[in-house]
Amino acid sequence: MSVRHLYVHLPFCASRCGYCDFVTVVGRRGEHDRYVDALLAELELERALLAHDLETVFLGGGTPTFTNGDALGRLLEALPRADEVTVEANPETITPELAALLRHAGVTRVSLGAQSFSPRLLEVLERRAQPDDVRRAFYALRDAKFDNISLDLIYGIPGQSPSDLTRDLDAALALEPDHLSCYELEAKPGTRFTHTFGDELARQAEAMEDYFEQVVARLTGAGFRWYETANFCRPGGPAGAPDFRSRHNLAYWQGREYLGLGMGAVSTVGPRRWRNAPGLARYVAALAAGQRPPREVEPLDGDVRRRERVMLGLRLDEPLPLAGLEQALDRQALARLERLGLARSDASTLALTERGRFLGGGVTAELLA
Ligand SMILES: C[S@@+](CC[C@H](N)C(=O)[O-])C[C@H]1O[C@@H](n2cnc3c(N)ncnc32)[C@H](O)[C@@H]1O
Ligand code: SF4
Repeated sequence: MSVRHLYVHLPFCASRCGYCDFVTVVGRRGEHDRYVDALLAELELERALLAHDLETVFLGGGTPTFTNGDALGRLLEALPRADEVTVEANPETITPELAALLRHAGVTRVSLGAQSFSPRLLEVLERRAQPDDVRRAFYALRDAKFDNISLDLIYGIPGQSPSDLTRDLDAALALEPDHLSCYELEAKPGTRFTHTFGDELARQAEAMEDYFEQVVARLTGAGFRWYETANFCRPGGPAGAPDFRSRHNLAYWQGREYLGLGMGAVSTVGPRRWRNAPGLARYVAALAAGQRPPREVEPLDGDVRRRERVMLGLRLDEPLPLAGLEQALDRQALARLERLGLARSDASTLALTERGRFLGGGVTAELLA
């Protein structure tokens, strides 16, 4: 009875975007209800793991807001309450009615996948939403009294230039979101997308560091807090004002336990991590028969947990408490990185400097024993 963070995977999407590597299922409107039944059955099987009071619930996808309204409403009503309840949404799916449904069902935060505000780049990504759909969705959510809205942007898109990125950042900021996630485009080798844009993806990869610096400079210049490598939030005001960091994602970066429900969902509880198999039919059939879905289980020994904790913790702008993590660190490498101005530590904490955070994973890899 200790897990305070719950992830729920809703895999359905209207179509598949070329660059996407998430566990998704196109269409299948007739199966949304049965899938929600399966999610609720899995919740019952695992309920004993959950604490009485949850801190966060996160509905991710796929496109949670593409799920039939009745099924989505039924799911939200049945899930445990939490301080923060986030739903990922695609702009073209948000109507005033759906925004109201989400609000009334206890959702506190919406993460809206804008990706870009350029029609040309949205076409490259095979997105359904146009820039005006993003704006319409954003205002519909504000009208429904959502005071915590995040926008996702992607950069390094084939055909993108630094000035395109400037325009995307300006357009996103003009909406006055509370939170922004800015991801570099990851294109998986061997996919149709990589085949189509191969040379251009290589050119974009070379520009990625400059784009990253541009994103950080523009968003911190606009007053946003760069609290995680790819995540920015409106700063909380005076003491006691809201903190707009994603509490759910912070739980992952801080190495907390979480339970994941749904096909392809991952859970980390105690010394074990498990991943439900990705197939829809197998997932639904197992739970309809009262059984847990097929899973891969990975034991997590102390070494793996300590290394993960360092890798994830150093993505944040807060110093990482070192208690219990000493064995994972290479003290000589740390001294070298401190001399280079990339890391700083005191007796009980470790953090990357701003320059260290730009270099990110490379610096962290050196720090690990
Ligand atoms: C789980 S996805 C899906 C959210 C929603 N269905 C959408 O497409 O807007 C969450 C976010 O991950 C990011 N993302 C997805 N695929 C990516 C990729 N290949 N490279 C970088 N970011 C990606 C996008 O910004 C997306 O909004
Ligand atoms: S809508 Fe989102 S989850 Fe669905 S295919 Fe596109 S990027 Fe992937």
